[in-house]
Amino acid sequence: MAEVTETKAQRVERLKREKLAWDHLDEIREFARNGRDSVPPEWLGTYFRSWGIYTQGDGAGVIGGKNGEGKATEFFMVRIRIPNGILTSDQVRVLAGLSEDYGRGVADITVRQNVQLHWVTIQAIPDLIEKLQRAGLTTTGACGDVVRNVTGCPVAGIAADEHFDASPFSLAVDRALGGNREFYNLPRKFKMTVTGCSSWCSYPEINDVAFTSARRKRGDVFEDGFSVRIGGGLSTEPHIALKLDAFVRQDQVVDVARGVAEIFRASEVLRQSREQARLKYLFLKHGWTAESFLAELNRIIGFPLDPAGDEEIPAEVHRDHTGIQRQKQAGLVFIGASVLRGRITPAQLRRAAQLADKFGDGTLRATVQQNLLLANIREEHAETVAAELTRVGLPVAALAFARGTVACTGSEFCKLALTETKGFARWLSTELDERLPGFSEQIKLHITGCPNSCGQHWIADIGIEGKKIKVNGKMVDAYYFCVGGSVGHIASIARPVGYRCAAANVPDAIERLLIHFQETRESNENLRTFLARNTNEQIRTVLAGESFAAVERDLPAGRVPAGVEG
Ligand code: HEM
Ligand code: SF4
Repeated sequence: MAEVTETKAQRVERLKREKLAWDHLDEIREFARNGRDSVPPEWLGTYFRSWGIYTQGDGAGVIGGKNGEGKATEFFMVRIRIPNGILTSDQVRVLAGLSEDYGRGVADITVRQNVQLHWVTIQAIPDLIEKLQRAGLTTTGACGDVVRNVTGCPVAGIAADEHFDASPFSLAVDRALGGNREFYNLPRKFKMTVTGCSSWCSYPEINDVAFTSARRKRGDVFEDGFSVRIGGGLSTEPHIALKLDAFVRQDQVVDVARGVAEIFRASEVLRQSREQARLKYLFLKHGWTAESFLAELNRIIGFPLDPAGDEEIPAEVHRDHTGIQRQKQAGLVFIGASVLRGRITPAQLRRAAQLADKFGDGTLRATVQQNLLLANIREEHAETVAAELTRVGLPVAALAFARGTVACTGSEFCKLALTETKGFARWLSTELDERLPGFSEQIKLHITGCPNSCGQHWIADIGIEGKKIKVNGKMVDAYYFCVGGSVGHIASIARPVGYRCAAANVPDAIERLLIHFQETRESNENLRTFLARNTNEQIRTVLAGESFAAVERDLPAGRVPAGVEG
């Protein structure tokens, strides 16, 4: 009989149908007792994901492995879900302890307000899960084909300029759908955000479902509700979410979120290929439109949504809520500190928790810009807290590049990476802050170690994507440049400009570009307008310092490394 082989997508679909991994903590405990070698491939490759657990690479990234995926070590990466980024000081201390005990003192705040630990052994996992659960935290649903962490504005409920506090709704959506067994087997990951913030800091444009504040007038009465956008996402085929012509009342948010998840779950056509399984592909490949989606959504939820209300789309570039800002509550401020490329130590976490307790009410928040924020600090102590955070390496008034830098996990731990990103990000931003002192433009400099765009290079002013090139016969880390990505009023995906160079030469290239910007900008022109006004060829020439023949983004032969999914 001919051997029947499964495609990768078929295998994952079968495994998900066969076992609901959340019901099998007992198996994880057993693996912990029997050691790393006892963990079967279906757990390593599929089931662990829904528990927020990935295998950790050997530091070489994708190189040296097979099937487009690098070598796995005996260690794991563990992602902890933090709905709306809201944390208590006690939880922060638990994270510090776990990072110290099981993660070699490394913790990364991620672009979805999560915290990721590395170096975790199989023996540590049961204890880690239990300690998190006792602290009201979980890893369930942090990865895998499920509803991922529901993000929201980190200053929800406290920002003086927010439209309204939407955090109760993001938490309600998270409670209803996150870790919900009904949505354990979606075609692929499913990302949602709910925000009432005036700067849309949680990036609704790149979520599968995004609720942003909207308003409508009924008679003489204003009603606060939401706009809804569908099908955003980055990865290798970035797509800005489409706005539906719908006003979502506050009491309809959970129903609508669930309705979209049901449409996604029922989309069998998306289950054919792992690379094209995100919700956005309904629009990109299967002929859906915002109108047909809304019609199906109305049918699924069982009532028609009203037409869209009014909304203000923010123009602001920096959405990071750093610095000291007055809250809507009299006498209180929040203090946003930059965590360079999201990497934070147990000592820094503990100090931040201690300051939050001593001068506030113990509330902290993780942000999607990989930063940390202390809320409800009494105004008279603001400077003391800011100075102390800065002293421990969490600057409240970070320099332009330290503030605007975001980096993905990279080859240090990620099996798909072409480049090392975290150390590189620190070096690059420090270099640029030194070379361009006083650079006053807001800049988003995003670094991503492969085409998957976990560091969101598609929405950055300057987004660089990891490559390998040969220099003097040796393969070295390199970066390909994309520019002009933006969100808000003129949401657009960054343009690949045809230039790439060795990682070591990236600071020179960016320095040239930004000096050229400073010297040739038209009056009051900001970086975004400048990047939009200049052609790819002009930008390429400045980056290279000479005329430079365009190079392709050169997706590796066939398709991008895609053996492991984020
Ligand atoms: C097919 C493979 C993968 C794809 C297409 C992918 C894509 C993405 C994208 C587009 C984001 C941006 C987050 C956002 O939407 O705002 C993201 C987030 C992230 N990715 Fe990946 N990723 C992949 C694999 C991985 C792997 C192997 C790692 C290694 C740990 C990783 C680490 C992360 C992290 C830390 C985040 C931050 C978001 C979070 O906390 O959920 N990704 N991924
Ligand atoms: S973009 Fe994602 S998959 Fe690629 S190296 Fe970075 S973390 Fe890994």
